Amino acid sequence: MAYRFSRRIVSTPKSFIRETLKATQAADIISFAGGLPNPECIDTAGIGRAAADVIREDGKRALQYATTEGHEPLREYIAERYRRRYGLDAQPDEILITNGSQQCLDLIGKVLIDAGDAVAIERPGYLGAIQAFSLYEPVFQPVPLAPDGPDTGVLEETLRTHEPAFFYGIPNAQNPSGITYSDRRRRECAKILAEYETVFVEDDAYGELRFDGKAMVPVARHLPGLGVMTGSFSKIFSPGMRLGWIYAPADLYEKLVIAKQASDLHSNYLSQRILSRYLEANDIDAHIATIRDAYRMRAQVMVQSMEELFPDGVAFTRPEGGMFVWVTFPEGISSLELFERALAHRVVMLPGVPFYTDGGGESTGRFNFTNADPETIRKGIGIIGDLLREMRG
Ligand SMILES: Cc1ncc(COP(=O)(O)O)c(C=O)c1O
Repeated sequence: MAYRFSRRIVSTPKSFIRETLKATQAADIISFAGGLPNPECIDTAGIGRAAADVIREDGKRALQYATTEGHEPLREYIAERYRRRYGLDAQPDEILITNGSQQCLDLIGKVLIDAGDAVAIERPGYLGAIQAFSLYEPVFQPVPLAPDGPDTGVLEETLRTHEPAFFYGIPNAQNPSGITYSDRRRRECAKILAEYETVFVEDDAYGELRFDGKAMVPVARHLPGLGVMTGSFSKIFSPGMRLGWIYAPADLYEKLVIAKQASDLHSNYLSQRILSRYLEANDIDAHIATIRDAYRMRAQVMVQSMEELFPDGVAFTRPEGGMFVWVTFPEGISSLELFERALAHRVVMLPGVPFYTDGGGESTGRFNFTNADPETIRKGIGIIGDLLREMRG
């Protein structure tokens, strides 16, 4: 059957990550390719107790339809945490609970992008965002990342000449590069965005996973009325529960609610109730601290292994949080070829090419450090180091 597919789906790339993950789920593979939280960091016992409590105490309601905006106590919790941690003046009626923070990107695309609009995005950019926005047929305008944040000269030029619908970025432990914007860059970005009255979509999937535990001031705090933040419970609670949120100013919020209603009526209410119950009964800060410690240690092992086992000429980031190290191989090394060779040795990483909306990145790659144990990380990096030496001849 020759289906007449929509233009928007035909022009949207398949997720390289999902496709790669499918190919790399064998037990004997050392995977640096995905972005999975470490299974040890999911509190199955605590979530089990919360689930049983909810069903026993209020099962009939927890299994009913619910409001589009989300479970009120959960929205209050998120707003209060924003006030305390980030100094934002957040209120529960500005928080919309979503089906993972990935849904925020879809809803933002629905509400803010018309086909042909410019969208400014970091270079390299988050693959899931590139995919989500692509469905609305924008023209991406990449803004290169320096080690401490976006190139503000390019950002300004982009806003001036292309008038994008918004700028999408990840100031904390960016995916894929692992870099964190400095305070100075955050202020500079906010100043430019305010000058051109451009919305900043601030994806904060990793804000709680800064290794030093200290919160950095979000760009949104410097950008009243134009800052939209997205957050996720995937990395600190459970990705399978699919819970995230958008924090948005009133006018935008109203439109996002309409878009969400049309998409799925509301996020999984049982998941919301279980999470809410879990937050009442457990010390989430202590849990987050455990996750941070586990990831900090693994990041150190990965960076140290790269320092010792990679040949000269390979550059890599030293993340302050999150889940990824970004590697730039010497010119001429194809990370796609490295991927194929490494797979034959049962190790996988993610080639950098799909993270570039304008081509390039052939000699870059993303390495996840959260999912493997320290010895395995060292072993896998050693194998890749040997392959790099082989490829250079
Ligand atoms: C930067 C960023 N944003 C959003 C997401 C989506 O996460 P979720 O839908 O699980 O909240 C991810 C997932 O890895 C991510 O890395």
